[in-house]
Amino acid sequence: MKRILVTGGAGFLGSHLCDRLLADGNDVICLDNLFTGSKDNIRHLLVNPYFEYIRHDVTEPIQLEVDQIYNLACPASPIHYQYNPIKTANTSVLGAINMLELARKTNARILQASTSEVYGNPQIHPQPESYWGSVNPIGIRSCYDEGKRMAETLFFDYHRQYDVDIRVIRIFNTYGPRMNPSDGRVVSNFIVQAIRGEALTVYGTGTQTRSFCYVDDLIDGMVRMMETEDFLGPVNLGNPEEFTMMNLAKKIINLTGSNSHIVHAKLPSDDPVQRQPIIDLAMEMLDWKPSISLDDGLQRTIAYFRKIL
Ligand SMILES: NC(=O)c1ccc[n+]([C@@H]2O[C@H](COP(=O)([O-])OP(=O)(O)OC[C@H]3O[C@@H](n4cnc5c(N)ncnc54)[C@H](O)[C@@H]3O)[C@@H](O)[C@H]2O)c1
Repeated sequence: MKRILVTGGAGFLGSHLCDRLLADGNDVICLDNLFTGSKDNIRHLLVNPYFEYIRHDVTEPIQLEVDQIYNLACPASPIHYQYNPIKTANTSVLGAINMLELARKTNARILQASTSEVYGNPQIHPQPESYWGSVNPIGIRSCYDEGKRMAETLFFDYHRQYDVDIRVIRIFNTYGPRMNPSDGRVVSNFIVQAIRGEALTVYGTGTQTRSFCYVDDLIDGMVRMMETEDFLGPVNLGNPEEFTMMNLAKKIINLTGSNSHIVHAKLPSDDPVQRQPIIDLAMEMLDWKPSISLDDGLQRTIAYFRKIL
């Protein structure tokens, strides 16, 4: 049994990760300041004697005895990370330093949840890990994108300088139950609008593309990366199948049986036109690829939103 710390453990991905690690027989500490996460996401775990919740902010140091650290704490949706951009940058950078210091002191292996946003508005498509990205350093998304890039830098410097045992994953759009219904991410937005019979808001013409990975697939890749030897990453984790926003909107209207129609709104600034991972490295090094289809994943997510709305 390993003692595993999950920062951001009360969030969307973090809570699914806690479920998975407990199911695998580990002792799990979930650390979260509940900025975007919720106790509702972990309420079912609070009775488990191998689960512990600590309300704490990763920008402050903490001393714990752990064998592994998954560092997920950071608001992930534009609405939330732009709410207090300086805090977002602090969470990424100071959070990374505090968790890397903890890993250094306890000899724990530490995994960073980085993001496809490190590629910015990519000049090459699809994106391999070797691409260095095209990021605006002074835009409204920079607090998140540059914060995550700096966190990657810190991870590799702690590895080179102090031999900390690091793993870095770059997560592409992931969706599923426990997404925050009001955080403005496209899948949850469309599903909530369709269930409520409201118009689905497509930004711009809707020809921009994204790839969507179901949460269970993503968590499986994340755990594989933590457990793999002699491979630090960064590694892309996501679903390489690409869909336009119009495609997605129509699919969700069909799957919910909604009467909603589609309206177009202004494209937000710095919104990437295309985003699609190359996952050859994950396939080769982790023997991983997504297995849940968009239709299947959307159906499970729609069922969740019907229950909570
Ligand atoms: N979901 C995705 O598609 C996606 C894509 C790329 C990267 N990621 C990364 O994965 C991680 C989890 O994302 P998510 O989708 O679950 O988002 P989320 O907002 O649901 O989860 C983030 C969690 O971190 C907590 N948190 C935020 N700031 C904190 C702080 N200062 N101290 C302690 N806790 C704090 C929040 O309360 C929340 O529970 C994030 O680091 C995000 O950048 C997610």
